[in-house]
Amino acid sequence: MSKTTQITELNSNPNVVLFLCRWCSGKGADLAGTSRLHYPTNVLPIMVNCSSRIDPQHVVEAFLEGADGVLITGCHFGDCHYKTGNYKTFRRMALLSRLLKQVGVNPKRFRITWISATEGAKFAKITTEMVEDLKKLPPYGKNGKGGDS
Ligand code: FES
Repeated sequence: MSKTTQITELNSNPNVVLFLCRWCSGKGADLAGTSRLHYPTNVLPIMVNCSSRIDPQHVVEAFLEGADGVLITGCHFGDCHYKTGNYKTFRRMALLSRLLKQVGVNPKRFRITWISATEGAKFAKITTEMVEDLKKLPPYGKNGKGGDS
């Protein structure tokens, strides 16, 4: 199954690609599930070993393949299992965020946040907030036009 098929098969409005690091954010998502917290089904989770494995190109590809928003989550600073991975992610994605804004992508479409294994409620809150914010914007990925302005 191609990436395009996966994103379009979500068939939700909006579609959100969610990158999670396996150690903290992934466990936080698990906790949200086992705690029976409600969060949107609009997200396509992509698990990586560390948020530092996410290349800016992955984010750009997600938008090009039909995502209406991209959410990156990782361990809190000081908790990354690879010591400095999330610091690198933060710097890299801050640059990407500015670039996306310059090409007309609404900043609400791209977020990065830190979620620990004990923060299932935060996971549910962040994903819900992002989906609700994106519902207020016109579709991005599906209309194929790109750009919010
Ligand atoms: Fe979670 Fe690096 S292992 S951000």
